[in-house]
Formats: sequence, structure tokens, C-alpha cells
Amino acid sequence: MAHGTILLLNGPNLNMLGTREPEIYGSRTLADIEGDIIALGKAGSPELEVVAVQSNHEGVLIDTIQTTGRQADGIIFNPGAFTHYSIALRDAVAGIATPVIEVHISNVHKREEFRHHSVIAPVAAGQIVGLGEDGYRLALEWFRTQLARGV
Ligand code: DQA
Repeated sequence: MAHGTILLLNGPNLNMLGTREPEIYGSRTLADIEGDIIALGKAGSPELEVVAVQSNHEGVLIDTIQTTGRQADGIIFNPGAFTHYSIALRDAVAGIATPVIEVHISNVHKREEFRHHSVIAPVAAGQIVGLGEDGYRLALEWFRTQLARGV
């Protein structure tokens, strides 16, 4: 029996993981990563049900935050390039009580200057940047720890 629900939400172009710039994003596919996180959710205590959603569309991401995300205990969110300019996504995150961890596979601070700024970060509980796909796993374990603490 799951004791918590986590939304694993990935934004634009993350469906291309595996073939997209593998020197930056690695060679594993999004399906590989989602499968691992879903399995990891079930494996620990408290058990977590992970719902994985990816969309290239800002409106679909907003709808998902407002529905599945609002009902979840936490959201692991890689907003892709929307990170850097989507006030609409920031407002969606700010508009719900569910805590959000912003995850970036690459170290955005080592890259182009336009990637250094996140409009999501000020409304997120925290940020994990540059640790590759491990960032998703670390975010899941933080939510598990918070739930175990009763937070
Ligand atoms: C990314 C970083 C963004 O700047 C980029 O637009 C992405 C992926 C990352 O996971 O490193 O699509 O969010």
C-alpha cells in the first residue's frame, strides 16, 4: 500500500533523452529513468506511488500541476527550457500547496548565461542541478524523508 504520491513531471524535449545531446544529458531514455524512479518509489519506506508525466506543451504542464500535482505529496519537476522564462509555470507552482523540487540533469550554471536564471526556483522548495539523472532519485528520497518525518 503506497503511503504517498509523487508527480514526476518533465517538460519540453526531455522525451528526447537518450538521443538528445548525450554528452550533456546522458544516454538513458526518459522511459528508463521514469521506470527506475517508479520502482524506487515502491522499494522504500514509506512506499511512494510515482506518477510520471512528460509534455512539450506549457498548458499541459500547467493542467498537470493543477490536477495530479495539487493532489500529490510532492512534485519532482524538470521544466526544461521553460525554467528560464515561463511565468505561467511559476504561477502554477506558486498556486498550489504541494512542494516542488526543481531538477536539472545538466549543471545549468556551467552553460550559456540564459540558463543561469530560473523563474521557478523562488517558488520551489529546492533545486538539484548538475547531478545527472541522480537528481530525480535524490529528490524522491528527500520527499520520502519528509513524509517519514510527518512534514
Ligand atoms: C535542463 C536544462 C535546461 O536549460 C534545458 O533547456 C533543458 C534541460 C536540464 O535538465 O539540464 O531542456 O532542464
